[in-house]
Amino acid sequence: MDNIYLPHPARIIEVKQETPDIKTFKLKFDDEAIGRSFDYKPGQFVEASVSGEGEATFCVSNSPTRKGSIECSVKKMGKVTQGLHELDVGDPVGLRGPYGNGFPVEEMKGKNLVFIAGGIGLAPLRSLINYCLDKRADYKTITIINGARSSKDLVYKDEYKVWEKAKDTHLHLTVDYQEENWTCMVGMVPKILEEVKPTCENSIAIICGPPIMIKFTMPVLMKLGFCGPAIITTLEMKMKCGVGKCGRCNIGSRYICKDGPVFNYAQLEELGYGF
Ligand code: FES
Repeated sequence: MDNIYLPHPARIIEVKQETPDIKTFKLKFDDEAIGRSFDYKPGQFVEASVSGEGEATFCVSNSPTRKGSIECSVKKMGKVTQGLHELDVGDPVGLRGPYGNGFPVEEMKGKNLVFIAGGIGLAPLRSLINYCLDKRADYKTITIINGARSSKDLVYKDEYKVWEKAKDTHLHLTVDYQEENWTCMVGMVPKILEEVKPTCENSIAIICGPPIMIKFTMPVLMKLGFCGPAIITTLEMKMKCGVGKCGRCNIGSRYICKDGPVFNYAQLEELGYGF
């Protein structure tokens, strides 16, 4: 029987410094056949391992509609992420997955989509945004509200122009405080959401960011008329084994790694999960 914990050898083929503490790694399996058969949905995650440091879960941040490599954006915050940040192009890593349920892309068809992200929370949403843009006819208006503490903390800056130009797509960038030469919005994400006022009619909101941002954004979404099942989020931070074995990621009766990481707000309330 195959060992489910055995990672496949992979290699870093590109590294991009997104912010002072976030890098995006483009990874490729050594075995091309494994790379070709690696199929995933936006919102799914992988376990990436660094020799001598261990492994950690990372969402896949590129869209499955753009195959060829796997991209993970990594914020330097612990042993494994620190280890990854020290690696460069050509260095080996281990990869296993994909795991988790991913976003309900079929149920989202025909809906207006409101993406709300803070900091590196844009990583799983980027996969879904580019997926929806590549299948543009399947989705209605796309609104993206993306915030960070400062302009240097914004991730995926290269893609904003493409998103802005896409059909029926509106991008709202915000930083916490006014900066020199900053011409976009200023203020925390909940305040910007209140200003943008996306319609709740036939809409789904997809939110990912720091818990404090989600906590204060949720009442605004409710005020705008979004109900629990129409608010989707992804809980990626609380996993270890990724395959429902270690028992580290349970909320109520569910495992984040197997039943999630994507949940709607009604499900989270039922499980007693709070931000
Ligand atoms: S991460 Fe081990 S059970 Fe979910």
